[in-house]
Amino acid sequence: MTARDTVLKTFAERFGSQPTLLARAPGRVNLIGEHTDYNDGFVLPAAIDRAIYVAARPRRDRTVHLISTDFRAETTFSLYNLDDPDLPGWSKYPRGSLWWLENQGYTVPGFDAVIGGDIPIGAGLSSSAAVEVVMIELGLALAGGTMAQLDKALGGVEVEHQFIGMPCGVMDQMASALGQAGHALLIDCRSLETKPVPVPQGASIVILDTAKRRGLVDSEYAARREQCEAAAEVLGVEALRDVTPDQVEAAREKLGAVLYRRAKHVVSENMRVQITVMALRGNALKTVGQALRESHASLRDDYEVSCTELDTIVEIANAQPGCYGARMTGAGFGGCAVALVADEAVEAFVKTVGPAYSARTGLTPHLYVCQAAAGSGVERLGE
Ligand code: GLA
Repeated sequence: MTARDTVLKTFAERFGSQPTLLARAPGRVNLIGEHTDYNDGFVLPAAIDRAIYVAARPRRDRTVHLISTDFRAETTFSLYNLDDPDLPGWSKYPRGSLWWLENQGYTVPGFDAVIGGDIPIGAGLSSSAAVEVVMIELGLALAGGTMAQLDKALGGVEVEHQFIGMPCGVMDQMASALGQAGHALLIDCRSLETKPVPVPQGASIVILDTAKRRGLVDSEYAARREQCEAAAEVLGVEALRDVTPDQVEAAREKLGAVLYRRAKHVVSENMRVQITVMALRGNALKTVGQALRESHASLRDDYEVSCTELDTIVEIANAQPGCYGARMTGAGFGGCAVALVADEAVEAFVKTVGPAYSARTGLTPHLYVCQAAAGSGVERLGE
């Protein structure tokens, strides 16, 4: 059964009626442009064909009864008390979105809902951004409001910053809300302008889940962000977006070893995004693959956010015939890698990489070919 059907069926079984609204928000895979979004830089994610769904029906009071199929749990809370610390941790993301909407002046009625999906949790495919965006879609529809997709995404980012305490950039929520089927999105994280870039022809995007769940990510992520800010200050610019590779080289001593490596990654990664976009437009897949390989090396050696499992799966993937290139994707420290593989080689690629990775790590990875999907939305199912 699809994740969408499971959510709808669970709603009917548990609440004994049909939902009136069904919202959907996809996860994302980032093709290239890692740890550049919070440096005002460029990223190239695609929304994927895995999503979080929430089916709901309004109530006459200000109470929310929320059932999660992913967490096999449920909770009831009041819309007057969304930050109650005694409520279960898994409900914090959905509550955060409702809290944000209320702060924006929307009055969301109480509702019964089932939430769940098929984005693996903690795998670096932005299941939390999808939860934030899907709940903003739902809450807004219940409140009878409308909002630009970009504002829904920025709402999700504010939930992370103000309600969760994670200083993320804008990439994940923007990919989830603004994705376009068959396209990746080039996002300028300073102007927030987006341009759709067609996914390659003749090659597939393969997601390689290492089965190593992310550790350390929160504290290390915040530390990287601070180091980038410190490097920008040394260089006398607003953000690392504003410097060239030559300027980083010239300031090497002033920056010191660590800040130099961090800045070098960000500045070179921004260039790789531009190269990838041009190469994709010309379907120059070898050039795209080369940029992916270089991105991984830079994240591993200069930004230091990879781990043994990611390095291993990327190394195995890069050695396969028909693989243009592979790299870690998302924040790092575990989770997923992404590879661009010639269509005719995909079957053999998936068959070979899994067992080879298991033999070296003892972990069972999960590999799948993903399609670039449309961004979030909400369906009215009838009263
Ligand atoms: C996480 C954050 C994003 C981005 C990536 C790294 O997914 O939520 O904003 O910074 O890490 O590229």
